[in-house]
Amino acid sequence: MTSFSTSPGTRDILSPDAARWRAFQQIFADVVAGYGYRYMIPPMFEDLGVFQRLGEATEVVTKEMYDFEDKGGRHIALRPEQTASVCRAFVQHRPTTPWKVWYAGPNFRYEKPQQGRYRQFDQVGIEALGVSDPIADAEVIAVAARFYERLGLRKVALAINTLGSSTERQAWTEALRQYFDLRRDKLSPDSQVTLQKNALRVLDSKREQDAPVLAEAPRIESFLGPESQHHFAMVRSALDRMSIAYTVEARLVRGLDYYCHTTFEFVSTALNAAHTAIGGGGRYDGLVEQLGGPPTPGVGFALGLDRTLLACDAEGCFSPPSESVSVFVVDTTGGLEALALCDELRLASIAAEHAFEARSMKAQMKAADRSGAFLALIIGTNELESGTILMRSMTTGEQSSVARANVVASILATLSQQGTA
Ligand code: HAM
Repeated sequence: MTSFSTSPGTRDILSPDAARWRAFQQIFADVVAGYGYRYMIPPMFEDLGVFQRLGEATEVVTKEMYDFEDKGGRHIALRPEQTASVCRAFVQHRPTTPWKVWYAGPNFRYEKPQQGRYRQFDQVGIEALGVSDPIADAEVIAVAARFYERLGLRKVALAINTLGSSTERQAWTEALRQYFDLRRDKLSPDSQVTLQKNALRVLDSKREQDAPVLAEAPRIESFLGPESQHHFAMVRSALDRMSIAYTVEARLVRGLDYYCHTTFEFVSTALNAAHTAIGGGGRYDGLVEQLGGPPTPGVGFALGLDRTLLACDAEGCFSPPSESVSVFVVDTTGGLEALALCDELRLASIAAEHAFEARSMKAQMKAADRSGAFLALIIGTNELESGTILMRSMTTGEQSSVARANVVASILATLSQQGTA
């Protein structure tokens, strides 16, 4: 028989990791609710055109898109990220501004799979549309920083930069193109290829051979007008005011083309893998317009869930939540008593399990042990006749007999004493 396993770059997320994912998203939901963001669920696939706005020269569009023609002849793509979808939704529904939304879910990029880099990966993110205030940029950055703190991460470095307005960014890119063109033979072969597509992205090269050329490359500062300078200065003051530490990295350009003004990235210094960027974002004032909407500023970020969890592992924080039930019911009378009692317990919101197939007392006690329950409730023929239940603490082994009619109330009392109800 043929058997199958997951496609490259995809994984089954099993317990306890899956519970950790849900807890991650829940904490993110709590944090962003504190800033007034509302949940939205964009579709997982869209018209290819929506994502072409990420940049004709970006790898995400040229190499990594999962796109196909559907049975209706539409050119569809699985979303490689969600900012473009949020902007498309804004144009489609025209909500009042500021429109502050958050999202969570999988994205798809045909990348070379390795640790921290997958073809299906999860993000959580926020987008604020209709706000051009630089204070909003800083507050968006703060949401991510506070979230990392809530997870218990300490070794997270924040880098920020500005790309100026789209005209300034264009002028700078053109200056870079001319500069690199003149020094083409000094660049690494990879950077020479990048240069043909997007001169800005050459700045992102970490290759040693490129370092001397990059060091002298034109800097964005010389292209920034007073408004852009003011914008960036305000972002920095606002971060300072919230005591959020950062470094300004003049070569932080990011991998998507829609950014202008503020860009930022969070890097885990606890990871020594190839991919240490655990989140990033920035301002994208032209994107809504490019998708057919009115001129609307926007700023946001997305955090990679998979990679952030790797960072948590490296720092030994944010362990998976317990998935154990509270109670295990052992029934040596055939199984119906356990079934009925579990039903009552669950109706009272007490998580309970029992065994099937009328197994021996010993086998059922073993199962109770494995379940992680703190309490076993034992029903044998004696208990059935006397209308009682034997309660056994799985931690101390202490046993006591309780009237069957009082058992749920008695467990509820124990749980509320323990604060685990
Ligand atoms: P991005 O930098 O492409 O930005 O992705 C954000 C984060 O997603 C990365 O920092 C990384 O943690 C994670 N990530 C990206 N690709 C992969 C992958 N193949 N495997 C695992 N994790 C990955 C965006 O997606 C923008 N939409 C962010 C944004 C929102 N900008 C403005 N608003």
